[in-house]
Amino acid sequence: MERPCVRVPREAGEETRQALTDAGLLDDGYEIVVEDGRLYLPVTDRDAASERYELVTRDVPPHDTQQTPADRLGFDPSYERLGDVAILDEDDPKRAGEIADAILGSDLPVRAVIDRASKVKGDLRVRDWTVVARADDGENDRLVTETVHREYGFEYLLDLSMVYFSPRLATERHRVTEEVAAGEQVVDMFAGVGPFAVPMAASGTTVVAVDLNPAAVEYLRENARRNGVADRVTAIEGDVRTVAADYADWADRIVMNLPHSADDFLDAAVTLAGEDCVLHYYDIQHEDDPFGPGERAIREAAEPAGYDVDVLTRHVVRSYAPHELNVCLDVRLSR
Ligand SMILES: C[S@@+](CC[C@H](N)C(=O)[O-])C[C@H]1O[C@@H](n2cnc3c(N)ncnc32)[C@H](O)[C@@H]1O
Repeated sequence: MERPCVRVPREAGEETRQALTDAGLLDDGYEIVVEDGRLYLPVTDRDAASERYELVTRDVPPHDTQQTPADRLGFDPSYERLGDVAILDEDDPKRAGEIADAILGSDLPVRAVIDRASKVKGDLRVRDWTVVARADDGENDRLVTETVHREYGFEYLLDLSMVYFSPRLATERHRVTEEVAAGEQVVDMFAGVGPFAVPMAASGTTVVAVDLNPAAVEYLRENARRNGVADRVTAIEGDVRTVAADYADWADRIVMNLPHSADDFLDAAVTLAGEDCVLHYYDIQHEDDPFGPGERAIREAAEPAGYDVDVLTRHVVRSYAPHELNVCLDVRLSR
């Protein structure tokens, strides 16, 4: 069956297989194929994998032992996996029901299938979900939208109906978290359940992680505990604009992952920044000038406070909507 595959030289095969597994991107419904000294590793999310690897489409056999949703349906449905929950984006409830039955009837370790019922909304960036099908028919008390997601060797407990989380950002989070050095003081201004804060703390940094959403902060504390970094993460519930004064001039690094309105928080970021501070500023802008508005806003906020602004990286994270890009500016502020 034709699947998106990462193509790497055979020598890089094991390292790539491990990295894709850790990122939750390896499609375990299909076999890895070796041909002409190269490995073809089937992946679940073409866009996310293409950020780091060469992607091709090719025929790969399904695992003999595993029955996939496609085997049951006769077509290859589109879905994402977050822990043991499968996520659909279907407009037609009948089709969603068929896909959900095929997923639950397959050999995938999936407990519930949910469908996007709204866009992410409001300050907390949470969306509504429709539960399409569940394996346990609602017999037990476990929250159907709560699951444990694994990403680059860390695990996150979260309830999608209460917090924001996107597995599609795994590669981007890994890119940024790889940059930290032990001993740094980091502020994650919009921390969610901790997918930046936890790996950064595990690299030996001290992290102050803020979020407005009480549920996200509870999961963040739990995730810091689960991953053995509770002593390095201070989780604070509140508006980061209020919290900033308590950590004025403190941060060596700041993560600003609230792409639609990060510019409203640049004054708080400048308050938090120490003498020398790297800012990871996420933005969503038109493809004609994806970095200009963010760069201008950062200069407007930081230069009057005495900072030199040096753009280290202009990085496209992913396509967000037609002609709109989700981007990250990595910027050094130095005084
Ligand atoms: C796009 S999510 C990012 C979460 C996390 N960084 C991630 O990658 O999963 C933005 C987060 O910012 C939080 N938020 C929104 N306004 C905030 C504010 N004024 N102060 C602190 N957190 C805020 C939301 O509750 C949400 O969890």
